[in-house]
Amino acid sequence: MKPNFKGRDIIDINDFSKEELLFVLETAKEFDPDYLKRSKRSNYTIAQGEIAALLFFEPSTRTEQSFRSAAQKIGMGVIGFNDLTLTSMHKGETFTDTIRIMESYSNVLIIRHPEAGSAKKAADIASIPVINAGDGPNQHPTQTLLDLYTILKQFGRLDNLKVALVGDQKHYRTMHALSIALFKFSGNQIFGISPKGLEMPAEFKHANYQDLPIDMNKLNETLAKLKPDIIYAGRIPKEYMKEDTKKYSYHINKQTLAVLPKNCVIMHPLPRVDEVDPEVDSSPKAIYFTQARNGMYVREALLGLVLGRI
Ligand code: NCD
Repeated sequence: MKPNFKGRDIIDINDFSKEELLFVLETAKEFDPDYLKRSKRSNYTIAQGEIAALLFFEPSTRTEQSFRSAAQKIGMGVIGFNDLTLTSMHKGETFTDTIRIMESYSNVLIIRHPEAGSAKKAADIASIPVINAGDGPNQHPTQTLLDLYTILKQFGRLDNLKVALVGDQKHYRTMHALSIALFKFSGNQIFGISPKGLEMPAEFKHANYQDLPIDMNKLNETLAKLKPDIIYAGRIPKEYMKEDTKKYSYHINKQTLAVLPKNCVIMHPLPRVDEVDPEVDSSPKAIYFTQARNGMYVREALLGLVLGRI
């Protein structure tokens, strides 16, 4: 039976079964020109008359703009804010009142906020679907959907993969949600390569997860031994740390490419700072820009699904 997403909140990747994940990814193919011979004009009217409200309490480029684009590509109107100084919260309005007001003007709320649990809080207030677009250092489930979509497109499968997460697993929400999602598929092995002290929190670990805390100068050596199918790199998110983050920095560059297996790919949710050298971009192993584009197709599908229009 087709999973039913109508009216559902998308808050936590734990709420998805493997079948539901696959269903969203299959639906996303309907929006991806790589799977369609020509663009499907009927997509433009899927959610006509519906309004998406984008509530961005934290900076974003990809997530906000791809949701904005995805909503419009399926015929929706878009409202919202990304600068609190231009909202009544600046005058002291509460989070609760802001959610209530925005829900009365829209059909789906898409929220990014610096606090863990904020999307859940919004969902408890609102009666329309709420989509978590990143809640502090907790999770980023729609990023995980696009990460899975990218992996499926690249490898034709989501199981029996060896994945090296590289960077800060402690605070990095996209790695948290990806770790949980990959455990739903059989035979995946996840390795968390991080500076010591930035290992994955217990709640996001599972039987097939292994921490590999290292001196990040030994990254290439570690990857050479590990032979992963996927490197999933990430920024060191200094906004969640009090200490100087320079000591945690690492670099993926041409020397790294030289030690990787032939079919290994490098993913990154972006933005990058200096952890992936632009000299890597021209390698066929570098798929992070395709990954970012895939986000739009996945978000078109997800919006259509939660609105009950697909
Ligand atoms: C990520 C995020 O915001 O969690 N970016 C994104 O949504 N593509 C990763 C990051 O901020 O480093």
